[in-house]
Amino acid sequence: MPEASQILDRVLVMEMVRVTEAAAISAANLIGRGDEKAADAAAVEAMRAALNELDICGTVVIGEGERDEAPMLFIGEKVGRGCEGEAPAIDIALDPLEGTTITAKAGANALAVLAIAEKGNLLNAPDVYMDKLAVGPGYSPGIIDLDKSVTENVEAVAKEKGVEPAEIIVCVLDRPRHDKIIAELRGIGCGIMLIPDGDVAGVIATSDEDTTVDMYMGSGGAPEGVLAAAALRCVGGQFKGRLLFRNDDERQRAYKWGIEDLDKIYDLKELAKGDVIFAATGVTHGSLLEGVKKLRGGKMTTESVVMRASSGTVRWVKSEHRKT
Ligand code: FBP
Repeated sequence: MPEASQILDRVLVMEMVRVTEAAAISAANLIGRGDEKAADAAAVEAMRAALNELDICGTVVIGEGERDEAPMLFIGEKVGRGCEGEAPAIDIALDPLEGTTITAKAGANALAVLAIAEKGNLLNAPDVYMDKLAVGPGYSPGIIDLDKSVTENVEAVAKEKGVEPAEIIVCVLDRPRHDKIIAELRGIGCGIMLIPDGDVAGVIATSDEDTTVDMYMGSGGAPEGVLAAAALRCVGGQFKGRLLFRNDDERQRAYKWGIEDLDKIYDLKELAKGDVIFAATGVTHGSLLEGVKKLRGGKMTTESVVMRASSGTVRWVKSEHRKT
C-alpha cells in the first residue's frame, strides 16, 4: 500500500486540476447573473462530484461550513472513493467558488480553489476572520510582523527591496474596517490595490511579479487564509495570520476545532505543513488566471494552476473542453 506522500505525488497533482476545473465550469454558467447562492451551489455540487471520483479517502477540513449550515462539502465530510478500502487519509481545504459576489457581478479574480495535504497538516480554521499579512518571495525570514505597525512593515519591505516606502504596492480588501490601514498607507504614499473580494488571489498576487503587488494586508476569512498559505508554501513568500473573534460563539468554535491559544500568530507552516498541493482554476478573468471562456460550438477553455510545496513545481494548465 503506497504512503500518503506517494499518493500525493503520483495521482493527485493533475487530478486536482480536474476537480477545480469542474467547479469553475459549473460556476461559470452563473457569471453575471446576480445570484451568488446559485453560483456557489453549482460550484459546490460539481466539486463534490469530481472529488468523489478520486481514489482517495479525503476529509474536508476547510469547507463550506459546519454540517448544519452546509449540505455539501461540510467540514468533516468524507470525499473520494477510497474510504471503503485502505486509501491513505488526506485532508482537504476547499473553496469551490472563492468570490461568489465577484461571479454574480462578472468581476475579476473569482477562483475555484483546492488544497490537499497529509492528514493533520492543514489548520482546521473556524469560519471567523483572520488578520493577514503577506509578502512575496526573496525577503529575509521574519521581515513581516503582525505586531508591528503598517508603516514599520512597509518600511522593512521597502528597505530590503531597495526602494522608497512610497514605491511599495499593497493589496487590501476594500472594506470600511480597513479605513485605518488604508489611511496609514496613504500617509506613506504607497500604491494601494483595493480589491472588492477574493483575498486568496490578493495574497497570491504578492508572489507574482507581473501584478506589481508587494504586500497584502488586512482581515478576511480564516479559511481563505489557510488556502492562501497553502499556495504561498508552494511558490514562496511569507504569510502571517491571526484569528479574529467577534464574539464568544466564534471563540467557542475555535476551541471546538482544537485551537487553544486564540491570539496566536500563525506562520505559513503552521497553516499548511508538509507536502501541500494547491490547485486553482479561474472562474472569471483575473491577474492569476484567465476565466472560463465559452466559445462557439460548445467549446470551452479553462486556465488552472497546480503547485506542490515539496518540489516547488508550478504547472499552468490550459484545457479545452468539448461537449460530447
Ligand atoms: P465569498 O466567496 O465567500 O463571497 O468570499 C469572498 C471574500 O472576499 C474572501 O476572499 C474574503 O476572505 C472574505 O470574502 C472577506 O469577507 P467579508 O466580505 O466579510 O469582508
